[in-house]
Amino acid sequence: RFRAAVAAATRTVPGPNRHQDLDRVPSGDGFTWSTDSDPALPANRAWAREVAAAMPGCRLGATTLGTHRVGTVDQADAAVAASLAAAPRWEAVGAARRAELLREVAAELARRRGDLLAVAGHETGKVIAEGDVEVSEAIDFADWYAEQAELLEQVDGARYVPARVSVVAPPWNFPLAITTGSALAPLASGSPVILKPAPQARHCAAVIAECIWAAGVPRDVFQLVDTGEEEAGRRLISHPDVDRVILTGAHDTAKLFRSWRQDLPLLAETSGKNAIIVTENGDYDLAAADIVASAFGHAGQKCSAASLVILVGQAYRSKRLRTQILDAASSLRVGGPEDLSTQLGPVIEPASGKLQDGLTRLDPGQNWALEPHRLDREGRFWSPGVRAGVRPGDRYHLTEYFGPITGIMYAPDLATAVQYQNGTAYGLTAGLHSLDPGEISWWCDHVDAGNLYVNRGITGAIVGRQPFGGWKKSAVGPGAKAGGPNYLAVLGAWRPAPLRT
Ligand code: SER
Repeated sequence: RFRAAVAAATRTVPGPNRHQDLDRVPSGDGFTWSTDSDPALPANRAWAREVAAAMPGCRLGATTLGTHRVGTVDQADAAVAASLAAAPRWEAVGAARRAELLREVAAELARRRGDLLAVAGHETGKVIAEGDVEVSEAIDFADWYAEQAELLEQVDGARYVPARVSVVAPPWNFPLAITTGSALAPLASGSPVILKPAPQARHCAAVIAECIWAAGVPRDVFQLVDTGEEEAGRRLISHPDVDRVILTGAHDTAKLFRSWRQDLPLLAETSGKNAIIVTENGDYDLAAADIVASAFGHAGQKCSAASLVILVGQAYRSKRLRTQILDAASSLRVGGPEDLSTQLGPVIEPASGKLQDGLTRLDPGQNWALEPHRLDREGRFWSPGVRAGVRPGDRYHLTEYFGPITGIMYAPDLATAVQYQNGTAYGLTAGLHSLDPGEISWWCDHVDAGNLYVNRGITGAIVGRQPFGGWKKSAVGPGAKAGGPNYLAVLGAWRPAPLRT
């Protein structure tokens, strides 16, 4: 069924050879492709080829997904100079034409759904079901920002001035949706964009770049410059001519960027340590399903993931709820994206350091309600873990681990539960399961997080409907939410319109 759906979505594409396409990418943008294999990529290359080949319209080549070349400091400077030169032209194009181009990007993304899924699965281990949702979200971002760009021009009493150069640094965990959304937002607003891909997801970024160029966005208006966080990356991020940097990543990365340039015009969505509360008035069956989906989706590698579950009073003592959570978690099928029935995929790289600790070391007083097990030699595949006995102030309570693990806390009442939920440095997503309207409205007034979810999972914000962004250490900068009505407005500046007499 999946392949049929993808075939339907991609059937109008003529399907030229991908390598010829990619070979035409000029070297000045820091990205080249060849027929050599990249030894650093995971071993499921053959599968990715197979998935791609099975999908009509896929343009993946026969021998490799691509290789990359890391940009130099000179290339970073050249890219910024090219953006600056292109800026007046791109602003003059006007919102209506930019919106048209974004809608064409949306169509291009839909045509290349198969390529995008294959590359994301191959490169980041993203399972097909979740990659598919991401492609849809990327398309939603394109349509949404197209609409928003048109609205910007209709604001009375002020004129919007786009950033001259925007640099976008997306994360590896949503290599399709967030990469596309955070690149298209400034483009829509009239700002040229330089995309600096996450090193773990650079090939995803390359396919998205192809979609943007194929739609007709000029190559100096949208550039792909592949750098790490070393010298060239630092140059790009901290370049004085860059007016806007959009980052989605760890809070420490935001701090690192700021240490490079103190007045960095940063808009960042950063880390989270998010909890779902279940009260005695919750629907336990629904809560169990939402907890498991929110904790273990994409192997817990979401800043929005539910890595804490706070059970209030009888909910904590309910055998039924506990059994449901543990049964649902332990029945998840763990595997690679090459198996279409996989529910819990691999972590991005072999677990080490903090993640290894999270998966193997309990804080004093905790125990495993469900102990995670390493399922491969490398340490990328893990069965899900559930800690019990997590107490306020525990290392686990306060730390983001970014893996297939959650922890259960007990609270005697809702007020205490909210205290624990708010008791971390972050404030990204938060959930409540309760069918009591009084509890729901009290909770909404007292919880400190950017995205609140009542009686549903806490991941998977919907463009235009649940704009996404956090509070506290989960955000840096003006605090506008991605996929929301004021996101484009904060990317540029506003010049008062002259008084008309
Ligand atoms: N937007 C994603 C979610 O809502 C996280 O970045 O899960």
